[in-house]
Amino acid sequence: MVLRSSSWQQDDRANRSRSPVQYSPKVSYKDHAGRNSGPRRRRRLPVAFLLAATVCFLAVWRYIGGFPSDKTLSGRPYAPISAQTSSWRDAFAFKSSARRKRGDLAVATRLQTSKHPFRLPEELLPVHHEAKRMLYHNGPLARTRPPPNQFLRDPHADLSQPVVGIITATNNPRPVMRETAASLFAQSLQNFVWVIVNDHSTEAASAAILADLGKDPRVHVITNADRQGLAEGRNIGFEWLFAHFDPAPRFLVSLDDDDLFEFTALEKACWTLESNPTWDLAGFRYIKWGAANETVMTGLHSHDANFKVGNFVPNAAVYTSRAVQSSGCRYNEKEFHRGGEDWDFWMCLAEHGHWGGSVLEPLYWYRMNPTSFRASRWGKTFENGFESLKSHVQRRHPSLADKFPSKVPLRSVQLEPVTWTPPFEQAIAHTDKQIMFVAAWLYVGGADIGLMHMVELYARAGYRVTVVCTLNKVPEGIELRPWIMQYTHDVHILPSIVRAHDMPRYLVNLIRTRGIHEVIFSNSQLVYEMLPALVEQVPHIKWIDSFKTDTQKSQYLHNEAYDGWKSGGYPRYSIMTQRFLARTITCSNYLKDWLLERGHLNADRIGVVKLGIEASHFAPATPSHRNAMKESVLGVEPNTIVITFVGRLDPQKRPLLVPKIADELLRRIPDADFIIVMLGDGDHLRKLKASVASLELEEIVRVEGMQQDPSEYYAASDIFFLPSVSEGISIAVAEAMAMGLPIVTARAGALPEQLGVLPTKTRTAPNELGGILVSHTLDDEKDAILYAEALEKLMLDPKLRSRLGHNARKLVKDSFDWRTTLSGLFQETEIAENLPGHGATLPGYPHPAAELAIQTLLFEMSRETDQIGYYP
Ligand SMILES: *[C@@H]1O[C@H](CO)[C@@H](O)[C@H](O)[C@H]1NC(C)=O
Repeated sequence: MVLRSSSWQQDDRANRSRSPVQYSPKVSYKDHAGRNSGPRRRRRLPVAFLLAATVCFLAVWRYIGGFPSDKTLSGRPYAPISAQTSSWRDAFAFKSSARRKRGDLAVATRLQTSKHPFRLPEELLPVHHEAKRMLYHNGPLARTRPPPNQFLRDPHADLSQPVVGIITATNNPRPVMRETAASLFAQSLQNFVWVIVNDHSTEAASAAILADLGKDPRVHVITNADRQGLAEGRNIGFEWLFAHFDPAPRFLVSLDDDDLFEFTALEKACWTLESNPTWDLAGFRYIKWGAANETVMTGLHSHDANFKVGNFVPNAAVYTSRAVQSSGCRYNEKEFHRGGEDWDFWMCLAEHGHWGGSVLEPLYWYRMNPTSFRASRWGKTFENGFESLKSHVQRRHPSLADKFPSKVPLRSVQLEPVTWTPPFEQAIAHTDKQIMFVAAWLYVGGADIGLMHMVELYARAGYRVTVVCTLNKVPEGIELRPWIMQYTHDVHILPSIVRAHDMPRYLVNLIRTRGIHEVIFSNSQLVYEMLPALVEQVPHIKWIDSFKTDTQKSQYLHNEAYDGWKSGGYPRYSIMTQRFLARTITCSNYLKDWLLERGHLNADRIGVVKLGIEASHFAPATPSHRNAMKESVLGVEPNTIVITFVGRLDPQKRPLLVPKIADELLRRIPDADFIIVMLGDGDHLRKLKASVASLELEEIVRVEGMQQDPSEYYAASDIFFLPSVSEGISIAVAEAMAMGLPIVTARAGALPEQLGVLPTKTRTAPNELGGILVSHTLDDEKDAILYAEALEKLMLDPKLRSRLGHNARKLVKDSFDWRTTLSGLFQETEIAENLPGHGATLPGYPHPAAELAIQTLLFEMSRETDQIGYYP
């Protein structure tokens, strides 16, 4: 795969050369207090009663057919209650009786975006997860991140059964405690209680901070009147929580008064514990910032190093109240009054068999205070005293030396039941501008860059965007995460949070808690295959699929009968599942026609939205610049014609054809001065090099491998060349066109469309195109001649090169900038509509259960089912 010089890379370079932005929370605590404060005793009963009455009324009305459309209370569409499956009802059968009083529907309050705008700052910075690229001034509240009001507390939520109990002991808190509070109040899991134990604070400013925080209905400031110290303060917090809630909040957190969470930290950690029932602690990677900067990659997953080497558990790890209650572990003030009490506490839990693991994302920011401040709190414990602290901890928990209760995520087990019941209520409000995107990967490929642009468009239009990625292959499978997190805090890489059988439930819970109505998904086999179940679970959702896939790949490249990847890839899935889809978005008219020819029933339900590129980043090279680049990048004379190939070296792009073409060109025009430069990596790299060597073409065909920045190569080129079998939309071709290069490529897939062949016209004059289209035969010998002919024509005719290059540039500039091409997405989403009788029997439409069953049968048992195996 070639890393292209697309926007995200250039942004990064630009950003890093800018002066670092000072850390400064965009929203002062006041904003939150204003929003979240209110009388602690809410008029909950009348509201619940009214809702219940309304729901009953609506249920009856609907049942008797009195409701014409699918809209209810706040305009949220719901399926008729009578049509709801039992699993949908299960999903809301919470144990809490308060919940049940409201009926089966999860009626979250819907807040208007106009009153709670979600506005992105102008300047945004990527949110890296790799230690070497971390931006330490880009914490969750930084001005270069989306605002902290992505998740709003549901003002009418029932907070009587908090999911998480947070304990903070504080002595004379500093103003930064307001930031800690802001990062808590911005959580996607809003259903928590925060016990702040005021440990003998004396300063008026501190008292004012605590008084402000106390205005939030979830905050309880209690006073530690006698036993002084951090450890005792936290123990008082335990006692208070256990006395006030029965059962106690399922999860607990000991939070310092100056640290910060990413806004999905609590939700993800609690889900990890839910998905790994034998775990009692869940941590994360974390970032130390301030007086020193470090990205901490160790953690609970470092197993017994937590006993033998040092304390790697993040201070704010989430642990279960079940572990605290059954073990009786508490913070030990007497022996650890100079610090280290948290280490001792974790080891106490471990000694009782309680341990866990990590969500492998940096979700917690640990403020490094200046040395002087640390010294005033902990003396020299962590400098000179560390070895004695360690042996002290080890002496107190001797059994851990031989037997440490290490845990890893439970292996996913086939046929582990898939359930739908959400484990806890999150108490976040819905808003009217929410949308979800699901992708299999966050690779830096054309399609995924397209996803990133879609996320940006929606976020800039004020939407709260949720992004889900269903596969994870660190690091490259999530390369785009940092750039996507510029636009939303709500990014979920499922495999790093839950085990496979919990993914369906997690996904549905995201939809339900965020109040999402539309899901746009790309290239996700998992979603396609789950659609029948998802439609049952969340019937009001519009599922919109979007893809940029080359469909012919399989047709030509796989010889085995059923190994044509899914017999046509995602477009085939789209056809199979069309009864469940509210709309299908393709990136070319070619793909739209492909769908219609192969069983899609309705052209009106397919939209075309092109992906587009960052056109402004490409400009044709001037002749002198081109000559300079020829010399500096390739070491050739200005007169040498440079033909450039950019693409994965795999059968789809036919790189092995190139040496044959070069050979043919040399035969035809032996005096020609030219080279072919090939950029890209892939399975055919070795074969390609061997073929170049065997034809003694090393001087002519330059295999340059993958290049970080191909734009210099484009600038040095005269012709762009890509002999693909087929392409959905080729980003490489679009970028070359933006550079004003004439293209030589195949008359296949969406390439003709990209070069200017209009779908409505049967024939476009060759002179109006952005290059030459070759009608290939897919026979290497014949095609080498056809491509050589086309290239020869351009090589011998500079005027033609210039004219076609000019056309190419214009085609891209006029209509292929992603902001233009993707703007159609809003309308497509708007007009997306579920079929009448959505989710019911729809005669005539394929049923994926049958199609997938046959496909699996053929994959696995073709010898037994097909004549291939035994037919004489
Ligand atoms: C930590 O990073 C911040 C932000 O990038 C920077 O301002 C600060 O100087 C760094 N601190 C140290 C000790 O390097």
